[in-house]
Amino acid sequence: MNRREFITTVAKGAIAAGLGLVAIEASYLFSYFGPTEGFMPDWKGDLPELDADGLILFKGEPVSVVEILDVIAKTGSFLFLFPGVFHGRNETLPGIVSRDAQGNLYASSRKCTHEGCLVTFRDDIVLGSKSYQKVWLCRCHDGLFNAQRDGEVLAGPPPTRLPQFDIEFVDEGEKVRLVSR
Ligand code: FES
Repeated sequence: MNRREFITTVAKGAIAAGLGLVAIEASYLFSYFGPTEGFMPDWKGDLPELDADGLILFKGEPVSVVEILDVIAKTGSFLFLFPGVFHGRNETLPGIVSRDAQGNLYASSRKCTHEGCLVTFRDDIVLGSKSYQKVWLCRCHDGLFNAQRDGEVLAGPPPTRLPQFDIEFVDEGEKVRLVSR
């Protein structure tokens, strides 16, 4: 079994088989789990990255939609890195894919455009006297971005929108491409 088949097997639930080797491979694949909120602007680990075409790669191999959904089911979100611009500087930025209650996927930069804290997805949230749906939330100063549009600022101090991605499935979902909006 090659690595791709192995990972797909893991993603389809082979972890439950309890094999030691599977457990090792699973911990390798999911080693990029990190805290979902708060200050971690410098955190980098073994994360999937976008290539020049926007394909999500992990250790040089494409990540499938099955794997992404599996990671989201286990951890609440799928994290990746991408080349971007933060406050005028070119940087490797953290990105995030999350899923709403209806199963829709949203992909975004994870670094709040205010001071760089990490955002998380919320289906519903009440801030002050207002309720919002489908948003990216930055807990540091309650910055809120619209996940259904272009990441526009809905509340809080962020000065600019949060960069968003369109999600494309390639080769029947065996590969996933993120395209900047
Ligand atoms: S760092 Fe996100 S609102 Fe301030």
